[in-house]
Parts: sequence; structure tokens; C-alpha cells
Amino acid sequence: MIAYYPMLKHLHMTLAMVSLLLFIYRWSLALAGSGRLQQKWLKVLPHINDTLLLLFGVLLAVTLQMSPGQQPWLMAKLIALVLYIGLGVMALKRPGRNQKLIAGVAALAVFGYMVGAAMTKSAWSWLA
Ligand code: HEM
Repeated sequence: MIAYYPMLKHLHMTLAMVSLLLFIYRWSLALAGSGRLQQKWLKVLPHINDTLLLLFGVLLAVTLQMSPGQQPWLMAKLIALVLYIGLGVMALKRPGRNQKLIAGVAALAVFGYMVGAAMTKSAWSWLA
């Protein structure tokens, strides 16, 4: 498995960036009140991408023999993932534009936290 580590890591990081870009695009459409948000591919692709992101995250953890119970940063990342998904849904679906705006900014902050936690291997993320 360890032979696949570099590939798994690059795929994981690429999928994370695609997730971010797709979110920012959908959020901008939601803020603009655009009907293009309803396009079929925009409803399907983010789910496929985010499922693969999670899958490669799990595969990486298995490859490196890391578990959330032993690595607080990994546990923090999983909790943050639930927050990122919840805030992302709010940013796209809340009725008020201000609510969408605030939820979207919070989702971006949580995403930034997750990147920091992964890079520093600390639940303190960028503050470590
Ligand atoms: C939006 C979600 C996520 C983002 C933005 C993200 C981001 C990243 C980034 C940037 C790295 C590379 C860090 C480095 O420079 O070493 C990384 C590594 C990693 N991520 Fe994620 N990740 C996400 C979700 C997940 C999930 C859900 C899991 C676990 C189920 C996970 C597990 C891992 C593991 C185990 C590594 C390997 C660390 C290493 O190479 O030592 N990630 N992640």
C-alpha cells in the first residue's frame, strides 16, 4: 500500500482543491440568484468529487496506519468535515442572501482550518 502513498496524497489534495473550486462556483451562483445552480452536472459532480476526497482520505489514513483516536488532528479534520458540509449546504440553500454570505465565509474558514490541520498535523491547524 505504501507504494501508492504519493499517488493517493496527490489525488487527495487535487480532489480537495476541486471541492473548493466547485463550492466557490456554486456559492457565487447562489449569491447571484442564478438558475444555473440547478444544472444537473453541478448537482452530481460535487458529490462524486467529495465522496472520492473522503475515500482517498480514508485510504491515506489506512496506508499511514493513522487513526482518529490516536491522531487528534485527524479527529479534528473529520469533525471539521461535518461542519464544512453543513455550512456548505447552508451557503447554497438558506433563503436570505446575508445568511448565504455568512455561511459561505464560515465554510471557507473551516476548509482553511482543515488544510492547516493536515499540513501541521495538529488540531491547532495554522496556529500550531
Ligand atoms: C475538505 C476536506 C479535506 C481537505 C481540504 C484536506 C486537505 C488535505 C491536505 C492539503 C493534505 C496534505 C497535507 C500535507 O502537506 O501533508 C491532506 C492529507 C491527508 N488527509 Fe486530508 N483533507 C480533507 C479531508 C480528509 C478526510 C475526510 C480525511 C480522513 C478520512 C483526510 C485524511 C488525510 C490524511 C491521512 C492525510 C495524509 C497526511 C500525511 O501525508 O501525512 N483528509 N489533506
